Amino acid sequence: MAKTSQTRTVTLTDNETGQTYEFPVISGSDGPDVIDIRRLYAETGMFTFDPGYTSTGSCESAITFIDGEKGILRHRGYSIEDLAGKSDFMEVCYLLLYGDLPTVKEKEWFQNTITNHTMVHEQLLFLYRGFRRDAHPMAVMVGVVGALSAFYHDSTDINDPQHRVIASHRLIAKIPTIAAMAYKYTIGQPFVYPRNSLSYAENFLRMTFAVPAEDYSISPAVSRAMDRLFILHADHEQNASTSTVRLAGSSGANPFACIAAGISSLWGPAHGGANEAVLNMLHEIGTKDRIPEFIERAKDRDDPFRLMGFGHRVYKNYDPRASVLRESTHEVLDELGVKDEPLLELAMELERIAIEDDYFAERKLFPNVDFYSGIILKAIGFPTSMFTVLFAVARTVGWVAQWKEMIEDPSQRIGRPRQLFVGEKERPFVPVADRK
Ligand code: CMC
Repeated sequence: MAKTSQTRTVTLTDNETGQTYEFPVISGSDGPDVIDIRRLYAETGMFTFDPGYTSTGSCESAITFIDGEKGILRHRGYSIEDLAGKSDFMEVCYLLLYGDLPTVKEKEWFQNTITNHTMVHEQLLFLYRGFRRDAHPMAVMVGVVGALSAFYHDSTDINDPQHRVIASHRLIAKIPTIAAMAYKYTIGQPFVYPRNSLSYAENFLRMTFAVPAEDYSISPAVSRAMDRLFILHADHEQNASTSTVRLAGSSGANPFACIAAGISSLWGPAHGGANEAVLNMLHEIGTKDRIPEFIERAKDRDDPFRLMGFGHRVYKNYDPRASVLRESTHEVLDELGVKDEPLLELAMELERIAIEDDYFAERKLFPNVDFYSGIILKAIGFPTSMFTVLFAVARTVGWVAQWKEMIEDPSQRIGRPRQLFVGEKERPFVPVADRK
């Protein structure tokens, strides 16, 4: 729990009136202290102005800690390197939701519980048919996940702790089924029902790639890679989509509607859509000799082109998730028997040239999680349009854990930012016939 400092305050002086105001400083368990400005408007009649929330803490949270300067990411105190290397996605889900790594018994209970919720209501299948076959799978995800609240009324009462738990489990369990169905629909293949004897990653791979006409065998290397990708994307504190989920949920909206809002926010190329954009960019660059041309374009203020998979609002160092992925990309491609993947060679050369360039060094722009993930996903066999969907599958647990934490926070209120109004002041209404 955060502590308000007994001694430390910050003083604000209005240089016009000479009036001073004091605000308490609050310390968390790690990371920068914050200035508590909750009484700012009441005391000064002024708001703060922080578009993009670069300096604004929106909530207390005990789930994920990031030190962007040092490139540190921890969930509930455990480093992402340890979790990606020694744990599995089900354990990480439990950790994010319940605060500790599970014991053997707890893990078994959690796995069984999630497994028992993997099927979706049969009526939901008809919803897919309303979409065009060429719909982007993220468009289908937004629609179908939002529609879950029309199917699972018995878990939409956010004030009932049991409803909250069931909705959380349902979302984590059903999201791979819904995602695989979105893919199957766009390629015109029959939906594949979940198989409860398989692990979370294996089940997802089978629902995505199996066809009823043949047996499907799952490569352990592929399911391990998939599981690791899920871990690396599971949560990332108050990013755009998570903040969207919290803001939507702050009004009391049901969790299915909130997660659909999160999926919409994730879709954008500045956020989860970047993994798809990275691969499209690598294809566009094509060969190593064209890298300098694209680097110059990324540096040109008059050109909207940005190096996708580079830069981050919080990390001013190598994104630790990108480090894990960079190391495992070679390993995974070897295990999959993909020799000399030209896109990987191109990505590594692009990274080398960009990192040595003053423009990127001065702005502390490093590869982020999306830079290498697409190469692994492509090697597994996913089309680029599914990349962001996979991000959504993995991030659902993070969204759900953050939503639950918010609802259970006694100080929670509806999220309602203020604004700096720059429009017209009051003016007289002119009847249409008299308007010039
Ligand atoms: N290529 C070229 N220049 C860049 C890039 C880039 N990828 N990213 C930032 N810059 C420049 C930007 O032009 C600005 O320069 P100047 O100071 O001269 O105006 C400076 O670096 C700071 O950028 P910003 O836009 O103010 O930074 P931000 O914190 O608002 O944006 C970002 C963060 C991730 C949206 C941005 O770096 C970006 O668009 N990156 C490419 C998209 C991407 O890879 N997104 C995935 C993020 S990680 C996964 C996730 O969150 O989903």
